Amino acid sequence: MTAPETSKPVEAMSRDEADFELRVLAAQIEKHDKLYHQKDTPEVSDADYDALRRRNEALEEAFPDLIRPNSPSKRVGAAPSAGFSKVRHKKPMLSLSNAFSDEDVTDFVARIRRFLSLGEDAPVALVAEPKIDGLSASLRYENGTFVQGATRGDGTEGEDITRNLQTIGDIPKTLPADAPAVFEVRGEVFMGKAEFRALNQRQEEAGKKIFANPRNAAAGSLRQLDPNITAERTLHFFAYSWGEVSEMPADSQTGFLEKLKEWGFIINPMTKLCDGSTSALEAYRSIGEARAGLDYDIDGVVYKVDRLDWQDRLGMVSRAPRWAIAHKFPAEQAETVLEGIDIQVGRTGALTPVARLTPITVGGVVVSNATLHNEDEIQRKGVRIGDTVVIQRAGDVIPQVVRVIEEKRPADAVPYDFPDHCPVCGSEAVRPEGEAIRRCTGGLICAAQAVERLKHFVSRDAFDIEGLGAKQVEAFYEDGLIAQPGDIFRLKDRAEEISTREGWGEKSLTNLLAAIEDRRNIGLDRFIYALGIRQIGQATAKLLAANYGTLPALTSAMLEASDPESEAYASLINIDQIGHSVATDLVAFFHEDHNRAVLEDLENELEIETFVRAVADDSPVAGKTVVFTGTLTTVSRGEAKAKAESLGAKVAGSVSKKTDFVIVGADAGSKARKAEELGLTILSEEEWLTLIGANV
Ligand code: IVH
Repeated sequence: MTAPETSKPVEAMSRDEADFELRVLAAQIEKHDKLYHQKDTPEVSDADYDALRRRNEALEEAFPDLIRPNSPSKRVGAAPSAGFSKVRHKKPMLSLSNAFSDEDVTDFVARIRRFLSLGEDAPVALVAEPKIDGLSASLRYENGTFVQGATRGDGTEGEDITRNLQTIGDIPKTLPADAPAVFEVRGEVFMGKAEFRALNQRQEEAGKKIFANPRNAAAGSLRQLDPNITAERTLHFFAYSWGEVSEMPADSQTGFLEKLKEWGFIINPMTKLCDGSTSALEAYRSIGEARAGLDYDIDGVVYKVDRLDWQDRLGMVSRAPRWAIAHKFPAEQAETVLEGIDIQVGRTGALTPVARLTPITVGGVVVSNATLHNEDEIQRKGVRIGDTVVIQRAGDVIPQVVRVIEEKRPADAVPYDFPDHCPVCGSEAVRPEGEAIRRCTGGLICAAQAVERLKHFVSRDAFDIEGLGAKQVEAFYEDGLIAQPGDIFRLKDRAEEISTREGWGEKSLTNLLAAIEDRRNIGLDRFIYALGIRQIGQATAKLLAANYGTLPALTSAMLEASDPESEAYASLINIDQIGHSVATDLVAFFHEDHNRAVLEDLENELEIETFVRAVADDSPVAGKTVVFTGTLTTVSRGEAKAKAESLGAKVAGSVSKKTDFVIVGADAGSKARKAEELGLTILSEEEWLTLIGANV
C-alpha cells in the first residue's frame, strides 16, 4: 500500500493524509523490526526497509507536530515487545475428537481396526491418560537445552512464551546427553486448585481481577508480558506428547512417556496401559472416581493407540488424530429459573431460541444463557417461561437446558409461542418440511445475518483479523463502517472516524489497520471457509480449494453446476465427501447475484493465493484423480484413500473421463467395467502400491 516509490510527494500531502501514513508506517516498521530481530525471518529487503524509514523521516520533517511518541525514528532496532512474537509449529498441534459414551469408545476402537484392516477381535492396546484441563504448550530443546516454548495458538502458529515457561519448576531446562538433538515435548500447563484459591484471595485483597476457574487463572498467568508475574504463581506441567523430533526415542506411547520421565519430565501418575476398550473404560471409571480428590481439574480421559507405527498409519482427519480420542466426563448440572426466551438469528438465518436464566454457577462458571436448540426442542421439553429447569455445561460447549422440574412449575408459567417472523428484520421465517430449523428469509436485508456473516469472516479459522472481534464487528456494522466483507479492507479510508470512537487509541487503530493489511494475501481454502456458505466447514473448503485451485475456476464451475445435468455438477458430486445436499448449498450460494458481487468486490481488494497442496514434488500421483473400487487386501479403503490424499491425489467416488487411475480390488463391479469402457488406466492393488513406492 505505501510502497515508497509510488507514494505521493511529501509536499503534496495534506495533514490528515500524512497523519494516516505515519500511523501505517509505524506499524509496518514495527512489524519488520520484529520479523528481523525476534524471529530472524525478514520479509523485505534491507533496501525496502530503509525506504520505509526514510519515508517516515521525510514525513516527520514536513509535519513535525505529527511526530508520534512511539515513532520508529525514536527507536533503534527491535521494537519493545508489544506482545508475544509468533512461533510456527513445525508439526501442527492437534485437537482431539470427543467421546461421550462407552459406545463412542468401542466405536473408536472398531474404526481403528477397520482402518488398519485388523480382525474384528484383534487386540488394540490403548494408553489411558487423564485429560488435564489446562493449556497445551510446546517446549523445544536443541542439543539438550530448552530454547523455546510456545502456546498452541490456532494449532499452526502459537505465541512465544519461553520466558514464562522458564519459570515453571516442572519444566526441565536441560536434558541428558542421550536425548535427541532436536526434541519438542508437548503437554499441559495447569494451576492446582489450592494455588488457584490462594491466588484469587491475593487478587481480591489487592482489588485485582478474580479468575473464574483454575484454567483461566493458568492462562492469565502464562500470558503475562512480565515473566516475574508468572513466576509468582505456581504453575505445573504434565508432559504427554511430542512435536518435531530428530530421532524418536521409542516405538510406543508408553515407551515414549517412560523416556520423558527418565529425562526429568512429570508424567501423570494415573496414566495406564490398557489392552482394549474394556480395560480402557475401567481406567475411565477409576480416574473418574479419583477426580474430586485431585488438586487439579481434569475433564475426561484421553485414549491413545500405544503403537507408534499404527499412530503413523492412522494419521489425522481435519485437525484431530484418528489414533486418539477424549472421553469426556458427564456434564455438570444445576437448577435455575428460566426467565425468558430470546431468539438469536445466525449467519445462515437460523432462528435459535436461547433461554435467559437467573445466573447460576455451574462447574465454576457463571451461566446466564443456555441454548434450547430449536422449536421442537421447546415442545419436547415442555418448557414454559417461569419454569425451574436443569441446565448443564460440559467443557467449552454452550450450556444446555436439560429438562423442566415440573413439580416446581409456578401457576403463572407461560407457554412459549415460537415466532414465524424474524425478530431482527421482520421478514417471514419459514421452516422447510422435514427440517428442524426455522430460517429468516431476509437474506442480505437482515442485519443479524449480515453481522454474523461478518463475524464469521474475521474469525480465527477464516481471515483471523486481530483486533476485529465480534464486539468490534457489531459496533462497526451498526455505525455503517462496514456492511459487507470488502468494506473491512477499506477501513483505512475511515481511520479518522474510527480514531474518534471510544476505545480506539492510536495504537489499537494502527495495529488493526496493519492486521487488516496483513490479510490481503489469503489462501483459497481459508477464503472459501470465510464466505460462510451453509455446510462448508474447513475440511470441505480445503477439498474445494484442492479441486478447483483458484477462485475464478471455482466460481465458473459452480455457475455451470447450477444445471444438475451438467458435467460440472457431476464433477462436483464426484469429489469424495461432497453429496447432493452440500452441492445444492454451494451452487445456490454462487447463483445469487449479491453473493457474486461480494466475491468480485473481495477479488479487487485481495490477493487470493492459488491452492498448493503440501506434498513432495516427486509424488507420482500429485494432482491425479483416482478411484478405488472393490475390496483391497493390504490396507483398508480408508487408509488407501488417506495415503493417496497425503500424496496429493484427489480421490473420487465414481469413475469418469477425468479419472486418471482406477485401482481395482477383489470383486470389483460396475466401476471397473465402466473404467474399461472408457479406456482408463486400471491398476491392481499391487501395481498401485508399486506406483506410490509403498511396495518395497
Ligand atoms: S494429546 C495429538 N493428551 O486436550 C495429541 N491432550 O482437546 C493431542 N489435553 O489441545 C493432544 N490432557 O490441550 C493430549 N493427556 C492428554 C491431554 C491433552 C489434556 C488437552 C490438550 C489438547 C486438548 C485437545
